[in-house]
Amino acid sequence: MEIARKLNTSLSPLEIHVLPDGEKRLRVLDKVLEEDCAVVQSCSTPVDQNYMELFLLLDALKRSGARDITAVIPYLGYARQDHIFREGEAVSLEVIIKILESMGVSKVIIFDPHTIKAKDLFHIPVSQLSALKLFAERIKEEGLEKNSILVSPDMGGVRRIKILSEILDMPFAILEKNRNLETGEVKIEKSQGLNSYKRAIIVDDMISSGGTIDIGAKYLRENGIEEVFVFATHAVFSDRAPKVLSASETVKKVFVTDTVKVPENKQFPKLQVIPIAKMVAENLK
Ligand code: R5P
Repeated sequence: MEIARKLNTSLSPLEIHVLPDGEKRLRVLDKVLEEDCAVVQSCSTPVDQNYMELFLLLDALKRSGARDITAVIPYLGYARQDHIFREGEAVSLEVIIKILESMGVSKVIIFDPHTIKAKDLFHIPVSQLSALKLFAERIKEEGLEKNSILVSPDMGGVRRIKILSEILDMPFAILEKNRNLETGEVKIEKSQGLNSYKRAIIVDDMISSGGTIDIGAKYLRENGIEEVFVFATHAVFSDRAPKVLSASETVKKVFVTDTVKVPENKQFPKLQVIPIAKMVAENLK
């Protein structure tokens, strides 16, 4: 809605019927013949349903004669598996990309995908937007850039933390997190670059169970940090995440973007949401 408003346009009405067995029947009500269309669909929980709805919508637009279709996918679900980690696995990100490309999408806009490989795996144009600029602005507005250290909770976030550290001219540290792929258990065994700071800003691409932030904050506490502020692009939030984050005494505030809508029952007092509509609208222009 906000993206359409910023583009001085309106949303097209859709008709979506859910059949008793859960299947959806979807219809585009506007005339889209020879029109350039943008579809915005965040593919987080329920991820399969959201993807299916996106695919049906793309098909409906194509069949109705849309000329050019941009798929805006603020949260690109299934991007965790960008390669085979263990023998016998599927590469889910490639599956999603193959489907999108086969649907005749002309361009995709994604936002801080879990893997930096995502953009290169597409064979169609991709705009990759990032929340880092928004995070830098908010860190300054909150007066957090002085006497704090930026922290990546794992090696996967090193690139991200280096970019933010350059934008803000702030020091950074890296925690070395390991996840057991069988049990899901997460451990932090060591870190690099932690100095004698009292305040840390953890930056991550997503919060799912909240486990990474929780153990990260505990590790930082044990290493002299007194308060932690969190900036994460995607509030994927499984059921226990809001509880885990609320319960942490070290975590003072959690900033996320609205790439994933946080339902009311998952909001909590420490949570602040930064909108991305302006950035997406500018890219669509
Ligand atoms: C991991 O590689 C990601 O960057 C996030 O740190 C992770 O997915 C967060 O998940 P959770 O909140 O379940 O620990």
